Amino acid sequence: MQFKTEIKKTKYQNEFQFKSIEKLALDSTLRDKLKNDPAVIEAAELLKKGEVVALPTETVYGLAADAMNPEAVKKIFKAKGRPQDNPLIVHIADKSQLKQLTAVKIPATAKKLIEKFWPGPLTIIFSKNSNVPAETSAGLQTIAVRMPAHPLILAVIERSGLALAAPSANTSGFPSPTRAEHVYNDLNGEIPLILDGGSCHFGVESTVLDIRGDQLRVLRPGGISRGKISRFLGEEVILAADLKEERVLSPGMKYRHYAPQKKLYTFNFDDKISVLNLALKKAKNKKIAIIAARGSKIDTKKLSDNNIKLLKVFSHAEPEELARKLFDLLRKLDADQNVEEIYIEELDTAGIGEAVMNRIYKAAAADDYSQPGGGDN
Ligand code: TXA
Ligand code: MG
Repeated sequence: MQFKTEIKKTKYQNEFQFKSIEKLALDSTLRDKLKNDPAVIEAAELLKKGEVVALPTETVYGLAADAMNPEAVKKIFKAKGRPQDNPLIVHIADKSQLKQLTAVKIPATAKKLIEKFWPGPLTIIFSKNSNVPAETSAGLQTIAVRMPAHPLILAVIERSGLALAAPSANTSGFPSPTRAEHVYNDLNGEIPLILDGGSCHFGVESTVLDIRGDQLRVLRPGGISRGKISRFLGEEVILAADLKEERVLSPGMKYRHYAPQKKLYTFNFDDKISVLNLALKKAKNKKIAIIAARGSKIDTKKLSDNNIKLLKVFSHAEPEELARKLFDLLRKLDADQNVEEIYIEELDTAGIGEAVMNRIYKAAAADDYSQPGGGDN
């Protein structure tokens, strides 16, 4: 316990929830008010002193430090137990901050994407400026950058004048945090301050896009779908779907991810030998939780209510809903003493569904990834 971790809100907490996230991010009046809020000033001062602060973004909460200060960045890795070879995403509030981070002129494709999707959940890989410490990029010659769309982190960036390196603010390997209390549960005592900006709008992380080769490649699917990027640019965007390939391209991919402590299984209604039926049989002597779509027919009549928790909490028509709820559900069920195993219905991989299923499969396969020291992306 190095710190007494505090959770603080600004006076403008209510304004984060109700409007569209893009509009909020561009609301300069709100940003100016936030910049003078005591909680924002405190966060900015800590960051300038080389400390680590957890901040909300529109995707998940991030664990931020000055991207140009190697000692500060090392504290991020220490606080979350992150493997040293997993590079960080740098967060900026204005395009002018790109110059200090990137080595060459911004490619035309990047310019277009920035105009269209920033602020928002799109991370772009650039050639790295030699000023950026090796700790931030984990020794790579490239640097991942994004402009988040939560007004609170944007205000902290502007107030501090820094570019902020920030991975998700969870203990390595655990589900990413989408609420301030998730961060507290993982990092209490490890960091001085968590700014509470409410529940995250997207609930899954940003899309990591590599534009440097002949083909546009998504290294990690996220808040902005491949289809959206592809339609906008009129170009195919491929997914580094082969896990072996992903492991090489995006160093973080080789580690355990997003995983609850309990066993997680996926099911769908096309399988002949249904994982769900097996689960329902198991539920006679094991306590299980099933996360399913609202319309799904699951016959639990024969089972005792004590052994089964059926959560019909999303719809296939709106994958955004499961994206928003997923990590919170996994964390809640992990903490629930009346649950031993978790089953989750698969979602179609259209739109943000691709990112949701990527997280679910990785969380379900966590045992295959685990290794001493854990890790995460
Ligand atoms: O939405 C998000 O992206 C959140 C919020 C806090 O911004 N951040 C986040 O960071 O998810 P993290 O560290 O949990 O995941 C970053 C991913 C990892 O898979 C990492 O390996 C990859 O991006 N990455 C970072 N820099 C890279 C680079 N230069 N080349 C390839 N992959 C990179
Ligand atoms: Mg992460």
